[in-house]
Amino acid sequence: MKAIKAVRGMYDSYGMDSRLWGRLDRAWGQIMHAHAYDQLRSPIVEPVGLFARAIGEVTDVVEKEMYVFEDRGGEKLALRPEGTAGVVRAGIEQGLLYNQIQKFWYAGPMYRYERPQKGRNRQFHQMGAEVFGLNGPDIDVELIEITAQLWRELGILDGVTLQLNTLGQSEERAAFRGQLVEFLNSIRSQLDEDSQRRIDTNPLRVLDSKNPDTQALLANAPVLSDFLGEESIAHFEGLKAGLESAGIRYEINPKLVRGLDYYNRTVFEWVTDHLGAQGTICGGGRYDGLVEQLGGKATPGVGFALGVERVLLLIEAMEQIPSDLGRDADIYMMAATDAAEGQIRAMARELRAAQPELRVAVHHGGGSFKSRMKKADRSGAQMLVLLGDDELAAQTVTLKPMQGQGEQRQVAQAEWITQIKS
Ligand code: HAM
Repeated sequence: MKAIKAVRGMYDSYGMDSRLWGRLDRAWGQIMHAHAYDQLRSPIVEPVGLFARAIGEVTDVVEKEMYVFEDRGGEKLALRPEGTAGVVRAGIEQGLLYNQIQKFWYAGPMYRYERPQKGRNRQFHQMGAEVFGLNGPDIDVELIEITAQLWRELGILDGVTLQLNTLGQSEERAAFRGQLVEFLNSIRSQLDEDSQRRIDTNPLRVLDSKNPDTQALLANAPVLSDFLGEESIAHFEGLKAGLESAGIRYEINPKLVRGLDYYNRTVFEWVTDHLGAQGTICGGGRYDGLVEQLGGKATPGVGFALGVERVLLLIEAMEQIPSDLGRDADIYMMAATDAAEGQIRAMARELRAAQPELRVAVHHGGGSFKSRMKKADRSGAQMLVLLGDDELAAQTVTLKPMQGQGEQRQVAQAEWITQIKS
């Protein structure tokens, strides 16, 4: 029979990829814990209207990338294309947002029907954070600091650049939009089809067109920063000052508008040139109008999401995979005879309790001494812990450094864990 394959653009993760992902999970969980953010778990499936209303009807995501279906009861649902809308929906529905400060994080799969290529999948994963109830730029700074700390811990900070822009408030953007549309109409016939269409639907998106001819034509376009009011400017200045005092470098990119419509004031992206066309590993910003837009009481919000697959690709591209991920276990525990089986398992329990960060494998499946040794070797473990008849009689245990790293020695059973530590 013909084997069934995974859906195009959706991948199995295993082996090194899965180990590296586990490491990212642990680093992320630790950072969120240390910053006192709470995890919010919301459904992968939501009413389709949630995304249309939150992300915007005329965005690529809503227009052409959502997985939409009817359930058996005829309700129109969508697989979530991003995490923010669901978090806001949950926050309103559970009464978590009004008159309080909330700091949430989430992680999980997202779905977009895009053309698959390296770093662009139809099922991909995000880790993100969303904060509600805070108006000042200091929280924007904290969120960006969190991302920078994660890059540092993963060894990729040198490979990424922080791009920053402000979109101002909606009235400011409306004034700018009017002038921009006027300008774009004056060069309409020279623009590509996509940009022509966007003049009428989503003119700000013309600004981040990937077409170099379009970019050249935009040189004389009006700029949003000329339309910003005092408050928006002060927020942006506060953000920049906060980043500077945190030692985080940034570039201002006036063309950065983001692909989702809910943003205002701060927007940012972390980009890299190690990954070709899919160079944005993380994006975020403020969405002070979104809670109200989804039926809640006006509450400011700000957040970001990183793309797990892209971050993993970048760690690989920058050769930052930690060497210990290459081995199946750190310590291999082996009984040389059946009589020692029970005791070697008890010792493994003891070691796991004493050194929880170590990966301790016990030999299973019996076999001759030679074949046991072969398996121990193949595991890549740094140390073999061996218990046979001699050791049982002498109340010792043999510690054998593997991978040619030293001489084996027998130590008293009372002190073998201390010996492993050293
Ligand atoms: P986004 O820019 O659409 O923002 O996605 C965030 C990140 O998810 C991107 O920077 C990218 O790394 C990753 N990503 C997006 N699409 C794909 C794909 N098809 N394949 C692989 N990775 C992908 C958001 O989703 C916002 N909700 C972020 C946010 C949170 N803003 C405020 N709060």
